Amino acid sequence: MDDFRDHINNLREDFTKGTLNEDGVNKDPALQFELWLQQAVESKINEVQAVHLSSVSLDGKPSSRIVYLREFQNNNYLFYTNYNSKKAQQLFKNPNAAFTFFWPDLERQVRMEGIVVKASAAQSDSYFNQRPYESKIGAWASEQSHLLASREELEKKVEELKKQYTPETIKRPECWGGLILKVNYYEFWQGRKSRLHDRICYELKAGSWKISRLAP
Ligand SMILES: Cc1cc2nc3c(=O)[nH]c(=O)nc-3n(C[C@H](O)[C@H](O)[C@H](O)COP(=O)(O)O)c2cc1C
Repeated sequence: MDDFRDHINNLREDFTKGTLNEDGVNKDPALQFELWLQQAVESKINEVQAVHLSSVSLDGKPSSRIVYLREFQNNNYLFYTNYNSKKAQQLFKNPNAAFTFFWPDLERQVRMEGIVVKASAAQSDSYFNQRPYESKIGAWASEQSHLLASREELEKKVEELKKQYTPETIKRPECWGGLILKVNYYEFWQGRKSRLHDRICYELKAGSWKISRLAP
C-alpha cells in the first residue's frame, strides 16, 4: 500500500512531444481545435471525444463529469444527455459551463468556457434516430441522476420498455436531447519540459478573438 502511495507521489512525466506559440496557432480557435482533434484521432487516442463538463449550481457549487462531444461547428460544441439529470438541471438554471479535453499521448489539454443552450428538437431527433435500439431504450429507461432502489429496478424497466417499443416505433423521449456549449474562451495547452508548458488562450472581445500566452 505504501509502495502504491510512493509511486503516485513520485510520478513525474516530462513532456517533450511538441511546442505551441502565438504565431503558430490558427487565428480562429475553432479551427485550431479541429486541427488538434484531428491529430488526436489520427494518434488513435482512446475515447478522444470524451470531455470533462463542469457546471455550477445557482449557489456556486461546482460539479463535473465526462460526456461525449458529438458535433461541433463555429464555436458550438454539442453533447447529448437527459434534461432531468443533475448536469442539465444545473445548466438550465446557470448556463455557465466549461469543457476540458486531455489527450495524454499528445501531451495536450484543451479548455473551453461558455454558455450552454438547448439544441433544437429536430437536431436531437435526428441524432436519437441514428442510435442503436438498445441505447434508445436506455435513454427511456434511465431517469439519469435520480435514485434507484437496485440494479434490478433498472433492468426490469428495460425489459418492460422493450415490450412497449419496437425498433420501428421508438421515438426520442422529450427529456433527452442535445445541449450546446457556445464557447467564448479557449485555452490550448502543450506540455513542455520541466513544467514550463505552453498555454495559448483566446478571448472573444467585441466579436474578435484576442490571442495571449499564459504562464504555466
Ligand atoms: C466515457 C464516458 C462518456 C460519457 N458520455 C456521456 C454523455 O455523452 N452524456 C451523458 O449524459 N452522460 C455521459 N456519461 C456519464 C456521465 O459522466 C454522468 O455519469 C452522467 O451524465 C450523470 O451525470 P450528472 O448526474 O452530473 O448529470 C459518460 C461517462 C463516461 C465515463
